[in-house]
Amino acid sequence: MEKEINLLAIESSCDETAAAIVTDGHKVRSNVISSQIALHTLYGGVVPEIASRKHIEKINPVVAEAFAQADMTWADIDAVAVTYGPGLVGALLVGVAFAKAISFAKDLPLIGVHHIEGHICANFIENPDLKPPFGCLVVSGGHTHLVRVADYGVYEILGRTRDDAAGEAFDKVARAIGLGYPGGPKIEKVSHEGNADAIVFPRAKIADGPYDFSFSGVKSAVLNYLNACEMKKEPYVQADVAASFQKSVVEALAENARKAIREYGFSQFAIAGGVASNATLRQRIAEVCAEEGVRFYHPSPIYCTDNAAMIGVAAYHEYVAGRFSGYDLNAIPNLRLGER
Ligand code: KG4
Ligand code: ZN
Repeated sequence: MEKEINLLAIESSCDETAAAIVTDGHKVRSNVISSQIALHTLYGGVVPEIASRKHIEKINPVVAEAFAQADMTWADIDAVAVTYGPGLVGALLVGVAFAKAISFAKDLPLIGVHHIEGHICANFIENPDLKPPFGCLVVSGGHTHLVRVADYGVYEILGRTRDDAAGEAFDKVARAIGLGYPGGPKIEKVSHEGNADAIVFPRAKIADGPYDFSFSGVKSAVLNYLNACEMKKEPYVQADVAASFQKSVVEALAENARKAIREYGFSQFAIAGGVASNATLRQRIAEVCAEEGVRFYHPSPIYCTDNAAMIGVAAYHEYVAGRFSGYDLNAIPNLRLGER
């Protein structure tokens, strides 16, 4: 039997301090996430300086917990992987500095991972039959991309958002209708009690980018609707606004996904990122895939939102390809997908 490859992975790009141990690119031995949500809720969003300080406080205990849950020691580890971008620079630096120090001290190879590659690779954890090439819709708080995964580590961006990311729009609308941070899960929850056809929020059409998205228009349409209600002294129905907004975003995502499936002839299509944990989105993309005769994949919600297991999966394919980082690895806040 071939030796198993165990990677320790670290993720600290935003407001979760996370560490995981992943074997052979799909077996998750441990996946520890220390969320800062309660702390940032006080401010209505992520405060970068507070995030960095909290990462420094949490990184050692989170890594220790990852070893405890996996019942493993440093002697079992073959390489250390870490997210080096994109994300908040101060937050990324905590993980990168930690990973470099431990890689040097324990004489282990170092692997820098792109955060969005991690989100895409989360699909490999529970779907052993999924292999490139496939199409993937990445919807997170900072990114909205339609991607062709040509091979492991080889990505072609077909479309992206021109303004707000899908998750960002969820967060902004949630704040406007008094739901607070983080907006996505809260909008999803209240939408269950609302009528998604109550209000039609227009969707932007982008003439020169068939797979591009724009979500600032629908966000403005919601704000205008709320203002109009206020001027007329008419109360609005929070659940109807939430459900109608969610429908508008989901339909825009589904429409471009369908176009890409047809144009590129994908036989497999996946979704990834925090917004991919939204059940309405998952159901709609599943319908589109069924109609187009395409196999549909998605990670469980715990692997959709930020976690380190997904970083360990992406890093495994770098390990196999012999692509390692040097000690000059640095945090790159605006790292683009496909760049190294
Ligand atoms: O991927 P992620 O955890 O972090 C980034 O890389 O940005 O995504 C976070 C985003 C937030 O904007 C959050 O509101 C959104 O994902 N999100 C959701 C849901 N859960 C998280 N959006 C819609 N529905 C959800 N259930
Ligand atoms: Zn993320």
